[in-house]
Amino acid sequence: MQVKSNKINDLIEYYYSELSASYDRPELDAIIKTVFEHYLGIHRNEISLRLDENINQSDLLKIYDCCKALKTRKPVQYVLAEAWFYNFKFYVNEKVLIPRPETEELVTIIVKENPKAESFLDIGTGSGCIPVSIKAILNHTQVSGCDVSKDALLVAKKNAELNNVEVHYFETNILDEDECEKNIKGNFDVIISNPPYIKHSEAKTLPKNVIEFEPHQALFVDGDDDIIFYKKIIDLCKHKLKSKGSLYFELNPLTAGLVHDYAVHTKLFETVELIKDMSGNLRFLKAVKIGL
Ligand SMILES: C[S@@+](CC[C@H](N)C(=O)[O-])C[C@H]1O[C@@H](n2cnc3c(N)ncnc32)[C@H](O)[C@@H]1O
Repeated sequence: MQVKSNKINDLIEYYYSELSASYDRPELDAIIKTVFEHYLGIHRNEISLRLDENINQSDLLKIYDCCKALKTRKPVQYVLAEAWFYNFKFYVNEKVLIPRPETEELVTIIVKENPKAESFLDIGTGSGCIPVSIKAILNHTQVSGCDVSKDALLVAKKNAELNNVEVHYFETNILDEDECEKNIKGNFDVIISNPPYIKHSEAKTLPKNVIEFEPHQALFVDGDDDIIFYKKIIDLCKHKLKSKGSLYFELNPLTAGLVHDYAVHTKLFETVELIKDMSGNLRFLKAVKIGL
């Protein structure tokens, strides 16, 4: 099908005709609003009121190219190089995970429960969505983020600039004790992580837009131990989390119980609690370290 004219209505028709086979209706409705808002600067709720307006040739071409990319199932956030998280705008590319709503829930819990904390560390920071949001909300605090991926750290730094906040980023491999000892300086009031937690055997169950476009280093756990990242981070709390400090994880509901039991077994914490997300899944862990 060809685009009939430069009218917004005809372009939207074109999107439905080209993309209906690839996306279900509610998802496509949301994508269309996101795309038109992004390129035309029209608030998503006003698009339906301006369907008769003509758009210029340059915007038409951009929206047309965007449709081609969306047809490959490339996530709209990568196509537009933009994702919204906690009402902040983030630059994203295929080197970082697209920030998820569950992670927004985690940030909501953390800022509510730790308004006076002086130092935060986010392990496996990706786009930097967690530390940037925390720093933007609790601006008195010191916030750090680390990742094994140099490319992710470039994106995270860009996002701190974009949102006008100062975050200390550094590279480290959290699975390597010597590197952690060398690179993680000092200790923290709050440690947070949303580490890779999907088994390679689960790859078949992931949608095409995730498996083909999102970075596998952010998604998958190598080896036999599904909770290796969680164990390493819990162990790290012995020296890097202050007494009475809090550890927060985003979890895979399938292994939430194992992570909980490991944290209890270390005897580092006075409380270890699993928290459900808005969909009722065991999605987060909070553990408070024993005081001296
Ligand atoms: C699930 S993503 C989370 C990204 C971001 N924090 C978020 O919530 O959107 C996991 C992150 O851990 C990083 N990562 C993977 N292996 C790592 C390792 N061995 N050491 C440190 N970071 C690692 C990945 O590069 C990725 O950015």
